[in-house]
Amino acid sequence: MAARLPLIAGNWKMHGRRADTLALLSALKERLTAEQLRDREVVVAPPFTSLETAAQILAGSPIQLAAQNLHWEPSGAYTGEISAPMLKDLGCTYVLIGHSERRQHCGESDEQVAQKVAAAKNHGLTPIICVGETLEEREKDATLEVIARQVQGAVSSQDKTTVASLVVAYEPIWAIGTGRTATPAQAQEVHAAIRGTLASLTDRQTAEAVRLLYGGSVKAENIDNLMAQTDIDGALVGGASLQADAFARIARFQ
Ligand code: PGA
Repeated sequence: MAARLPLIAGNWKMHGRRADTLALLSALKERLTAEQLRDREVVVAPPFTSLETAAQILAGSPIQLAAQNLHWEPSGAYTGEISAPMLKDLGCTYVLIGHSERRQHCGESDEQVAQKVAAAKNHGLTPIICVGETLEEREKDATLEVIARQVQGAVSSQDKTTVASLVVAYEPIWAIGTGRTATPAQAQEVHAAIRGTLASLTDRQTAEAVRLLYGGSVKAENIDNLMAQTDIDGALVGGASLQADAFARIARFQ
């Protein structure tokens, strides 16, 4: 079985001006040495307006850069949008796709998520595809069905090699920004189901290569127990990624 390289990603959402980015990343660089990041990847996703500043500060650092969204076309008459080649040009290596806040507030559909995944891969960006159920769906016992539909919608048009390189983040919507984390067992159950869906779309070996992150109120206090689960390969961190001490501790999970 292929060993999966753990990945800790910070989603800054719509927070911070360039000066805040400078301060946060300078503090983070001091707290995370290359030696500590030897066996894991750490990625930050600042707002678009801070990407260039972030790239300058992170030059030569093992901390990588992600964008929070992209458009599926490389260029064109899409006012207000940002494309994959533009993000590559700024030094991004990863991009978040289909975050529940975009699905909820910007009407992002499974079809658009699939188009964005294809665009990211075509231009050398690694997608971090976000999936997750609402509280209502969980209470109706529809979690696994909802997640399977979202995963299938995002990856079914991709070939096996591409699927193997993807990152999927399971973020139960009821756990995002609420302080209410899924228990390690709840998260593991869904992660195992996601791997099962990926295996049925491709094969077991491909599914075993895909990195699955958990997101939703990840903190310094709960990261170690989450990472101890078989199918949890990392975390997508919102609120705690805006605090250098907390995010550095999460990145140093044991
Ligand atoms: P949270 O956000 O860690 O603040 O819950 C996670 C996310 O939305 O990616």
